[in-house]
Amino acid sequence: MHRLTDLVRLRAILDHWRLQNERIALVPTMGNLHEGHLDLVRHARRRADRVVVTIFVNPTQFGPGEDFESYPRTVDEDLSKLAATGCEAVWLPAVDTMYPLEAGFAVRVPSQLADCLCGEFRPGHFDGVASVVLRLFNQVRPHLAVFGEKDFQQLLVIRRLVLDLSLDIDILGCPTRREADGLAMSSRNQYLDPEQRAAAPALFQTLTGMAKRLQAGDDWATVESEARAALVRAGFRPQYLAWRSAEDLAEPKPGRPQRLLAAAWLGKARLIDNIALD
Ligand code: PAF
Repeated sequence: MHRLTDLVRLRAILDHWRLQNERIALVPTMGNLHEGHLDLVRHARRRADRVVVTIFVNPTQFGPGEDFESYPRTVDEDLSKLAATGCEAVWLPAVDTMYPLEAGFAVRVPSQLADCLCGEFRPGHFDGVASVVLRLFNQVRPHLAVFGEKDFQQLLVIRRLVLDLSLDIDILGCPTRREADGLAMSSRNQYLDPEQRAAAPALFQTLTGMAKRLQAGDDWATVESEARAALVRAGFRPQYLAWRSAEDLAEPKPGRPQRLLAAAWLGKARLIDNIALD
């Protein structure tokens, strides 16, 4: 497995693979890898000849007061996990490789996608995500890239980026990996103390309970307010509980894919989750 910190070397390896007509997959991450990330790598592995994983804690997607400084950085452990998962190259760029100019170009995500749900509570977050992912796409020029459905809004932002800027990259979503008790895997779960960890699966349980009630015909306002109250009783500080189109996050359309999405603080951890509504 190549461990790369130099863009020229990365490009030389990628050029070599392309000359051999090999299909290249990209899996962007911020490191501190868990089984959810490794699922993305396995998903990519099945669809490409070569998998490139990137590890870069991207400063432009963190807002003031967020956890950029304290975000867990565990590169050595990450590299051991990746070596066992069939990834051929790990791209570990420095900040000035990703952002060579102090006030460089940035992507502005359309407001309908960027300013709702997580974007309402993390202004500028999706511009930062799209800006770094576009740079990674330009550096690696993959045939396909894999993103987790846990960050469902991010997945839609990336799909829109590729569509709008005519990028020739297939974007694949990978189902959320959960702990045995239903909690979606996340690097931020480690911010939970034991009591909070025991309460944390309530977020997923709340979403599944909401789905059942909506399918039974209960009205949204009642379902939402009772779910919010249940989360507060479990110790959460909910930010949003939303029922949206799975295609564009607008109001759900009958007969089209729909999604229930939630974000809530539990202690120092901001947890997000979402499920499909069949
Ligand atoms: O999902 C993440 O880990 C990040 O938002 C990403 C896509 C690697 C961009 O920094």
